[in-house]
Amino acid sequence: MTPEQLIARIRTIRGTSPGNLMARHFDEDYFRSLDDQSRQRLRRIIASGIENPDSQMGAYAMNPEDYDRFAPMLDPMIRDFHGIPAQTAIAQKHDWDTGGMSCDLAAIDSRLKDVSMRVRVARNVSTFPLPGAMSKEQRVDLERLAAQAFTRLREDPAFGGHYLSITPGSPDEIDATEYDRRVKSHQMFKDMSGDPYLNVAGISADWPYGRGMYVSRDEDFLVWVGEEDHLRIMAMQHGGNLNALFERLRNGLERLRDLLPAFATSPCYGNVTSCPTNLGAGVRASLHMRLPALTENGRDLTGLKHQAKALGLAIRGAGGEHSDAGEGGLVDISPSARLGVTEMEIMRRLYDGAAALWAMETA
Ligand code: ARG
Repeated sequence: MTPEQLIARIRTIRGTSPGNLMARHFDEDYFRSLDDQSRQRLRRIIASGIENPDSQMGAYAMNPEDYDRFAPMLDPMIRDFHGIPAQTAIAQKHDWDTGGMSCDLAAIDSRLKDVSMRVRVARNVSTFPLPGAMSKEQRVDLERLAAQAFTRLREDPAFGGHYLSITPGSPDEIDATEYDRRVKSHQMFKDMSGDPYLNVAGISADWPYGRGMYVSRDEDFLVWVGEEDHLRIMAMQHGGNLNALFERLRNGLERLRDLLPAFATSPCYGNVTSCPTNLGAGVRASLHMRLPALTENGRDLTGLKHQAKALGLAIRGAGGEHSDAGEGGLVDISPSARLGVTEMEIMRRLYDGAAALWAMETA
């Protein structure tokens, strides 16, 4: 495809798929102004949004530097998604300190004392390209590096556990049955090779090489290796105490940071991630709640999605992104904002959002 054909194609997508932020912010003159090599690089970054017109974002960075190098294209998309006006400077701040603020869901309603809570951060080490541009060897090398860090982490009783690899021939390899069991229990990530967005971006390439998961003995601290970002570090608990959940993640993250090469960061965007939707604190905090009244027993999420959006929340089905509600209207709720909000603000927004949805559910 010539540059002009590409431009025409994106113009068509802009008309047929107005939600596609890549197409919305694609600047034809900027693209024409680039040299051949830069044009090729940018094409790879936006390929997913071109091949998948229904994309919401439609781009994945291939290298941490891409966010600076292609800022004229990516910055407007990032601002649009995260709701940051053009004149406002972006400077991601971090704050994990609760300052005594208590976010225990049981205080909303005692029925909320045993929901499934989860918080994760995305991290990429600065010594490798982002997953879309990694070679098979690099994927396996990264996994080896992570496995070494886990060997050290295991020495700490609070985080002790084991590493499970799905790389064929790995010393930590698990079999297909064990992998399926871990996917069903929402611990392990799904087979990425079935995801059209990740496939076009090259992020799922070489599946399942270099992929695996660390899991603590109590199964509430997990690290994914080789998914959409190098590492997805998460805490998972049943209960209602969001403070305890965030504290668990923070501690584990600090331990890991000391055992790995520096993570890729950007002065304005904070933690650098493959997908621009995850920039910033890189935190996704969610609850699995049953909202039968708001979802017609799980049959219809449309109304709830609208109501949640007004509260700054995103709704997913219980099976993760692009899934339907589970039995009894079980849904996944999480604050949409990632960039320009601190870790603690995200915790607070999840708590307030859960309270607001619960009030509507029980009204
Ligand atoms: N590339 C997809 C899109 O643009 C996914 C975006 C957000 N999800 C994610 N897992 N990064 O719609």
